[in-house]
This record gives sequence, structure tokens and C-alpha cells, in this order.
Amino acid sequence: MKTYENYSLLNNNTFGIDVKANYFIEYDSVEELQQLLRSDLLAESKFMQIGGGSNLLFINDYQGVILHSKIMGIDAIEGSRCMAVLRVGAGERWDSFVEYCVSKNYGGVENLSGIPGEVGATPVQNIGAYGAEAANTIVAVECVNVKTGEERTFTAKECQFGYRDSIFKRDYKGKYIVTYVHFKLSKAGWQPNVNYGSLKDEFEKYPDKNIAAVRSAVLAIRGRKLPEPKVLGNAGSFFMNPVVSRSYYERLLKTYPDMPCYVISDAEVKIPAGWLIEQCGWKGKSVGNVAVHGSQALVLINKGGANGLDIINLSDSIRASVRTKFGVDLTPEVNIIFG
Ligand code: EPU
Repeated sequence: MKTYENYSLLNNNTFGIDVKANYFIEYDSVEELQQLLRSDLLAESKFMQIGGGSNLLFINDYQGVILHSKIMGIDAIEGSRCMAVLRVGAGERWDSFVEYCVSKNYGGVENLSGIPGEVGATPVQNIGAYGAEAANTIVAVECVNVKTGEERTFTAKECQFGYRDSIFKRDYKGKYIVTYVHFKLSKAGWQPNVNYGSLKDEFEKYPDKNIAAVRSAVLAIRGRKLPEPKVLGNAGSFFMNPVVSRSYYERLLKTYPDMPCYVISDAEVKIPAGWLIEQCGWKGKSVGNVAVHGSQALVLINKGGANGLDIINLSDSIRASVRTKFGVDLTPEVNIIFG
């Protein structure tokens, strides 16, 4: 276990916001986490768990303790000719895990290539991209209860996964810390899942129609659209794609016949927030040291030296324009921490 005092979080949030935490503690095992949860320091302080910091926006210094998992390991715990169940430590980098699966020819997570962050965070917000989401492969989530220190394993059903959503963001927010995630991957009978518009076209370019080709295609698209956090601070999509009723969407279509959508059910559709933001003229626009990314309007960027409030102010202006023009409310996808 490692404890740091008065710790700069600059390298622990992909927005590149220069804030500090009173303490930053990294633990290596479930036992160490349990020991920490019983400690006087945590009894007396506010605390939160972070992963790779790729979906966080700090507004102020964090007056408390930040916990970070170093629980590592990828172990096969079940398997047959057709599938494997892997138990993966929360501290593993998500994309290293995806790369591992692709190298073994295990199918199921290749569409989620290149997503920053760590495995422990993947069930919390049910990461998703290019027609797939983590929930398609997660079969169980091992956690520790922050109050009692007891271990509990949630089945996928108990996680109540939804679009960028799970029980860990709602009823159990801040109540459990994820320690291991179990993923079920296919070893035989894999079929590419490349129906998502831009992926279909990119995949066409690869002669071998295998799992590695899907990963390469996804990485190629991401590379074109999404800024590299080490170069331009960002947290991926800043907003969720808003869900509206089909009747409201059809009303909007009369004025905006090109408005795209993803069908969710007979009653609801999701409108790409990037499209709404672009239509309001924000794409590529800078305000001081923050900006809307020029290749994907859903991504807000720190051009250097921005603080959390600069980003929030830009986000508020964007939300106001989208509300005025389309009558649609955008909800941030990023977790905003006021300190
Ligand atoms: N669009 C625009 N202008 C833009 C951006 C998008 O018009 O500037 C429209 C286009 O019509 C485009 C459509 O929006 O065809 C969809 O865009 P894209 O494929 O880039 O996907 P998205 O809906 O904007 C979601 C995820 C991304 C994920 C991509 C790819 C959310 C909030 N975001 O974005 O996830 O990579 O799909 O599957 O659901 C993330 O969560 O951090 C993230 C990057």
C-alpha cells in the first residue's frame, strides 16, 4: 500500500486539471482495502475511489482521501471449447485487458478497444462504443461494501445495467468499491459486430475478418475522431446522448429533417448529442483555454491550464444553446467532483 499526502492529481485525471487531494492511497489487494476502510483516516475523512480518472472533472482541490486500486491480474476461472470466463483485477488498464483478449482470440470486447480507464470503472458506467457495451460480457462484479468491509458479488442482473448506467451510479453510489470483474468471452463461433455506421465502412478495408481487424478498425476511427488525452486534456464524451420520445423526435424532424437517431424502443430514440451541439455552431469553438473538439463536438477539451470551472462554464453555455434550439436537455456523462 502507498500513501501520498498533499498529492497533485494532475496525472490522475485525463482532463489535465491541476488540483490536489489531501491524501492519495493505492492499495494492492482486497485485504488492504478492507484494512483501509477500518482505518481512523477514512473514519474521519471524506473519501472516494477513482479509476483511470478518464471520466472525472475536478472543480476544486479534493478535501479528503482519494483511493486507487492496484488490484491486478487476469485469470481464467471457467472455460469450455466455446467460451472463457476471466476474472480481472479492478486496477488493470481497460485497453490492456482488451488487447489481451484479442491476442488470445477471445471475442466480445474488441469493439471497446482504445477506451481509456481501468477495469474497475467499466461496470459502474457500463462503458460503450461502436454498438457494444461492457454489460454484454460482464457476468459478475466483485465488490467491497465501504461501510462494513464485507465482500459481495453482484450478478449481471443485479447490476441493473442501462445506457451508461448501473446500480453503482444510482442506489449504490459510493456504497461499494469494485475489486474484480468477471467477463464471459467467446472462443468459438465469434461473429463480428460491425453494424455501427462508421465501423462497418472501416472494417471493409481489412481483408482478414477477425477479432484483431475489429480492434484495428475501432482504433483507427477513434484516432481520427477523439483527441489523445496526453496531448489535449479531455474526458471523452462530455454529455450522454439524450433519450427523447419518438413523438418528440418526429416533431423535431419536421424542422430538422437530417437529424440522426438511434432507435431504443417503439417509444424512444436517442439523438447524438454531438449532432445537436454541432448544429448550435459549437464544433471547434474555443472559449479562453477550453474548446469543443473540432472532430467530435461531444468532446470538450482543455487546451492547457484550464480549471474545472472553465469547463463547466462552457458546458453550461452549450446546454443552454441546445435547450433553446431543440428543447432538449443534455446531461453530463462525466462525473463532476466539487471537492
Ligand atoms: N455527430 C455530429 N457531429 C459531431 C459528432 C457526432 O453530427 O461532432 C453525429 C453524426 O451523425 C454521427 C453521430 O453523431 O454519425 C454519432 O457520432 P459518433 O459515432 O461519434 O458517436 P456518439 O454518439 O457521438 C458515442 C459514445 C462514444 C463512443 C461513440 C462510438 C456516448 C455519450 N458516447 O458517441 O463514447 O466512442 O458513440 O460508439 O454514448 C465516451 O463515452 O467517452 C465515448 C467517447
